[in-house]
Amino acid sequence: MTVLDSLARTHVPGALPKLVTALPGPRAAEIIARDEAVLSPSYTRGYPLVIERGEGAVITDVDGNRFLDFNAGIAVLAAGHAHPRLTKAIREQAEKFLHYSGTDFYYQNMVELAEKLAALAPIGGRKRVYFGNSGTEALEAAFKLSRYHFSQGQGDGRGRDKMIAFFGGFHGRTMGALSLTGSKSVQKKGFGPLVPGVQHIPYAYCYRCAYGKQPDTCAVECVKVIEDTLIKHILPAEEIAAIVVEPIQGEGGYVVPPVKFFDELQSVARRHGILIIADEVQSGMGRTGKMWASQHFGLEPDMITIAKGIASGMPLSALVARADVMTWKPGAHASTYGGNPVAIASSLATIELLEEELIENARVLGEFMLGRMREWPRRFPTVGDVRGKGLMLGFELVKDQNTKERAPQLRDRIEQLAFERGLLVLGAGQNSIRLCPPLVISRDQAEFALDTLEECLRLAQN
Ligand SMILES: Cc1ncc(COP(=O)(O)O)c(C=O)c1O
Repeated sequence: MTVLDSLARTHVPGALPKLVTALPGPRAAEIIARDEAVLSPSYTRGYPLVIERGEGAVITDVDGNRFLDFNAGIAVLAAGHAHPRLTKAIREQAEKFLHYSGTDFYYQNMVELAEKLAALAPIGGRKRVYFGNSGTEALEAAFKLSRYHFSQGQGDGRGRDKMIAFFGGFHGRTMGALSLTGSKSVQKKGFGPLVPGVQHIPYAYCYRCAYGKQPDTCAVECVKVIEDTLIKHILPAEEIAAIVVEPIQGEGGYVVPPVKFFDELQSVARRHGILIIADEVQSGMGRTGKMWASQHFGLEPDMITIAKGIASGMPLSALVARADVMTWKPGAHASTYGGNPVAIASSLATIELLEEELIENARVLGEFMLGRMREWPRRFPTVGDVRGKGLMLGFELVKDQNTKERAPQLRDRIEQLAFERGLLVLGAGQNSIRLCPPLVISRDQAEFALDTLEECLRLAQN
């Protein structure tokens, strides 16, 4: 049975949560106590989930409690837990060879995935692909390639080293990527000086427009600022290498910009020969009901960074760039593990599943869920905004719908209440909850999640 068939089924046994202990259960509590003594205190755990195994969108914890997973390991497990096609592909590749550093040697599936990603990427003309292991590595590579490209007499030949990024944007935590990140200051505190030359500007966060505009008065000031302020006063256009932008902001709170934001951004970039890097680490690989979120907005970047859903749980990332931009010389950039063959086998199987049915499932169930969620601001005074595409959905908690005062504690409470009811969700931004389930969820599971969240909203506001 296909995933789309399962939409028609009314109930799949074992597909919904069942809690059998208080939370955390005794085994979970014991593991968490050991974790607290030895793991890095920089990790941010919202609730005491200790996973034992997963199947589809269902997780069983070490005490036998069953949860519905609307996190997908932070928007990673596109094909869900333990998909038989993925485990088969991983096992078969593991039995052949585990690793052979594709940066120094050759293997076939690395070429196959590069060909596939080059064909799929929303970039015109010939493309080339660089592989890493994590999102931050893809951004690091994009940052380096942008500077390298202009240092080699490309473009107008003068060399450009400045980058424009957005407040609320999250691009990773290694030094280059962290310099691009404009999310939470705790992520930067104590790590400076960061890589110089990055200028952040407000994103098209229309619910909280930095320029105080409404949709009918908006003249895309958040892009106009590049020419009217930055270029005019502090940042010569011929020094700007690239603009890094998430087509939908992920960690920033699942913020969806209007199409005209990207129209303007592309016009400004083209006028000044600036590259556009679309960071699709969270929004890519079918999550939004299209392969790339860029496709919702007619965004045609020069480079795209991909990770998370790319291999549905195996560590892999990619930078796809215009071939005339990715011209760095042998030795300029590489990584021992980047493009690991087992991760690539998982990625090829993931892409097959996405194209066969999972992107469509994300589109159909995303529309269904958003349709119901759109009623929430009317039904719940604490829901300020609801937004998303496909199965990249978010809602924002506020103390008052008129003042839009943020309600981060209420958000945390709802996350906790959902956990206590067997639904796993995660915060994003200062006061939003994101819903990023595996793309294999059924309609029953989507309904359960909505029912549960509505119950939590009712309870939390009392
Ligand atoms: C848009 C975006 N870019 C980059 C990253 C960094 O990815 P990673 O945590 O794999 O380094 C993330 C992670 O959340 C992300 O959402």
